[in-house]
Amino acid sequence: MTPTPYLQTVIQAADFLSKRLMAKFPEKPRLALILGSGLGEFADSLTERIAVPFSAVPHFPQSSVTGHSGNVVLGRIGSVWVLCLQGRVHYYEGHDIRAVTFPVRVLGILGIRRLIVTNASGGINPRFRPGDLMLIRDHISLFYPNPLIGSNEASVGPRFPDMSAAYSEPLRQVARHCARRLKFSLKEGVYVSVTGPSYESPAEIRMLKRLGADAVGMSTVPEVIVARHMGMECLGISNITNPAAGISKRPLSHAEVLEAGERVKPRLMALLAATCEQVSELD
Ligand code: HPA
Repeated sequence: MTPTPYLQTVIQAADFLSKRLMAKFPEKPRLALILGSGLGEFADSLTERIAVPFSAVPHFPQSSVTGHSGNVVLGRIGSVWVLCLQGRVHYYEGHDIRAVTFPVRVLGILGIRRLIVTNASGGINPRFRPGDLMLIRDHISLFYPNPLIGSNEASVGPRFPDMSAAYSEPLRQVARHCARRLKFSLKEGVYVSVTGPSYESPAEIRMLKRLGADAVGMSTVPEVIVARHMGMECLGISNITNPAAGISKRPLSHAEVLEAGERVKPRLMALLAATCEQVSELD
C-alpha cells in the first residue's frame, strides 16, 4: 500500500536526517530523547555531536518558545549513541496535533526503539516540591485531540493501540536505580497534559487532582501516544518546577518555570546520562 501523504512527508524528513546525520556514524541510534524547557544543554554535552536545525529538515514544525532551541542532535553519551530532539513544538503554538507529533514519527521511521521524554510541570500532589523529579507512571489526556485521529498509518501501527503500559516499568526501574546511585530520590505519578498556554486556574487544578493527576504540563502525552503507536518503549521524566495554581498563593510565571528548570538541570542531566548508559545494557 502506498503511504498516506502525511507518512510520505515523515519518510522524506527521515531520509533527509538519515543522510545528514546517520550516514556519518558507525552505529544506528536506537535511543532518543526529547529535551523540554531549558534542557537543551544535555544535547550540547554529547561527544562527536552533529546537529541539524529543525528549520533545515523538510516538513519539520518550527518552535517559537523561549528555551526551546530546535535542533536534531546525534552524538554519544559515554558509549551510547543517542538522537536528541533539542526543543519541541507545542499544540498551543497553533500547530495541529499531527505537526506536534511529526518529529516523533520521524524518530520511529529512523529506527528508534526507546524514547525518553522530559518536560517541565506544575506539581499538583501536595507532597511534591519545586526541584523534584517525577517519573511518569501514567497519563491523562482528555483535553485536546488525540494525535492518531485521521486515517491510520497501518504500516506503522494499529488503529487502536494499547495504552495500559505506556510508560515502561523496566525503563522506570533503570531510572530509579540510577537516581539511587546518584543519591537522590525520584517521585512517581500521573501526568496530565493540558493545551495551555494559559496556566490552569485553581479550580481546574482541584478538578485535575480529583481526576488523579499528580503533575500538569503542556506536552509529552501526544508524543508518547504516537511513540507507543509505533511500538517504542517510553520513559517520561517531569521536572516539577512550581506548585500548580492555587497550591501556593504566588502567581505562576514562565520565568519562574525556566529558573527552576535551571536549578534542577545538573541533577536531571546526570540522571539522563546514567539512564541512557544503563538502558543500552538492557538488550
Ligand atoms: N502548568 C502547566 N504547565 C506547566 C506548569 C504548570 O503549572 N509548570 C510548568 N509547565
